[in-house]
Amino acid sequence: MVDWVKLELDVEGFDDAGFERYLRRAQSSGTRFTTMADLGDAPEHRRVLYELNRTCSADIPDRGPFYTYDEYAAQRLDVATYNPGGVIIAVQGDEWIGMSATSLHPDRGHAFSDMTGVLAPHRGKGLSLALKLLAIRFVRSSGYRRLVAFHHPQNHAAIAMNRRLGFVDQAR
Ligand SMILES: CC(C)(COP(=O)(O)OP(=O)(O)OC[C@H]1O[C@@H](n2cnc3c(N)ncnc32)[C@H](O)[C@@H]1OP(=O)(O)O)[C@@H](O)C(=O)NCCC(=O)NCCS
Repeated sequence: MVDWVKLELDVEGFDDAGFERYLRRAQSSGTRFTTMADLGDAPEHRRVLYELNRTCSADIPDRGPFYTYDEYAAQRLDVATYNPGGVIIAVQGDEWIGMSATSLHPDRGHAFSDMTGVLAPHRGKGLSLALKLLAIRFVRSSGYRRLVAFHHPQNHAAIAMNRRLGFVDQAR
């Protein structure tokens, strides 16, 4: 059984100023940040989101086969917790190069980081930090204080990314 690494961030205590430079750096090199809500939560955009999520998920340890599009739509998009305003997209030219999807869970009193992914050629440049800064602002403006993320213990990059942002181990 996988012993998931369960992390949590207090978004009220999060220091936006410490991460704004990653957003500015990406923007000054031509990356645009938007959301599924702003792009339009239309079938063609859902397909592009699916492809981006599928490609990035191939690097998650032990992820196994990814959903078919219909499974993805049923489990991630056509659900009450899906919020197109909480799906941040990084775009370069016409290409979607990164994403951070967050869902809100009023029953549990927290927001959940469903998936953050950056296409391999664009990694190591702080793009995930820029995406998550915007995701954290979405969580805060939605009235939530806690953002939770679960990772496979071998997903060192994702765990390091979240710890860099100030995520700590959830109390067991
Ligand atoms: C995890 C992922 C989103 C990071 O994206 P990225 O844009 O390359 O990350 P950044 O350049 O913003 O790096 C942010 C921090 O993460 C850590 N990090 C990123 N890649 C790392 C790696 N390969 N090894 C160790 N730490 C890493 C570092 O702490 C880094 O901050 P620093 O450079 O200031 O020390 C990317 O590797 C990815 O898409 N992986 C596949 C999908 C995935 O596993 N998603 C998480 C599951 S939800």
